[in-house]
Amino acid sequence: MANKPAFIKELSLPAIAAPMFLISGPQLVIECCKNGIVGTFPALNQRTSEGFEEWLVEIKTELEKFEKETGKKPAPFGVNLIVHATNPRLEADVKLCVKHKVPIIITSLGAVSTVVDAIHSYGGIVFHDIIKKRHAEKAAEAGVDGLILVAAGAGGHAGTINPMTLVAEIKKIFHKNIILSGCISTGRDIASAMQMGADLAYMGTRFINTEESKASPEYRKMIIEAGASDVVYTASISGVHANFLGASLKAAGITEEDLKKDTKIDFGKELDTEAKAWKTIWSAGQGSALIDNNPPVSELVTSLKNEFKKAIQEQIKLLDTYPK
Ligand SMILES: Cc1cc2nc3c(=O)[nH]c(=O)nc-3n(C[C@H](O)[C@H](O)[C@H](O)COP(=O)(O)O)c2cc1C
Repeated sequence: MANKPAFIKELSLPAIAAPMFLISGPQLVIECCKNGIVGTFPALNQRTSEGFEEWLVEIKTELEKFEKETGKKPAPFGVNLIVHATNPRLEADVKLCVKHKVPIIITSLGAVSTVVDAIHSYGGIVFHDIIKKRHAEKAAEAGVDGLILVAAGAGGHAGTINPMTLVAEIKKIFHKNIILSGCISTGRDIASAMQMGADLAYMGTRFINTEESKASPEYRKMIIEAGASDVVYTASISGVHANFLGASLKAAGITEEDLKKDTKIDFGKELDTEAKAWKTIWSAGQGSALIDNNPPVSELVTSLKNEFKKAIQEQIKLLDTYPK
């Protein structure tokens, strides 16, 4: 596996639409890939491995059809696997990823060499989520191809470290692909991630507010109305610290006292409870502050590209002024 996979240079933007529980499905993934950015979804968004396989077949069939009809190569797609002892589906889902040669696997919680080896066996790529250096070291030992650095303010299970520090600190010890996650909502943000030294930008919350996401209109509206300080960081919903929209906590009757509780993580038999929690209490990152519309993915990618280009051009112009 080359350190920098060839697909990165073939994307229309250096971006991945991040996997989101209850939000990302085939429609979102297919539209992202058709528009030249990586589309992903969590395997657990389907309740069974059989359902997961149906989605894999649907995505592959649609993307093959797109390539045949247009002659354009779609971006590769990815699947998020929760690598934790309490995920009873892990083995079956890994087998399906191998069977269908899923191009990119995103592992969360655990980075284990058996999963990495299984994915490498057919030329697949493994990126792993981390929030701190210790996790990065463990994942590097397991042989992952890239690290997703989940910085402060991100949607879902976010970290607490500033992105500038996190990228610089991890780049000292890890020399493969660096993917930056957390509050990346605009093309300028993507350009900033590249400036910091990332190879790819990882965008979650921005894609909740797209026509193809599975989010309800009320959820999207709450994101549009939220500012950065309306996002609450708490471990009380899923046992791991995550960011949620304060207004959805309030609507669910969650009190300040409740927010101080730490519940225990269990993605297996507790899956239904976890799903129920995330269905009523909506996760989003601080990047909500910059989201004010619900475009189709094609339109969003076009504006991200324009903003990205403009930001880089402005940066280049700075060279006429600085350094002195
Ligand atoms: C509603 C929601 C659900 C998420 N679910 C998952 C998930 O199932 N697996 C995962 O690896 N990350 C999940 N994430 C985290 C995202 O993959 C990504 O790291 C994060 O959204 C990036 O930060 P941003 O939202 O500020 O762009 C979720 C994020 C959100 C907002």
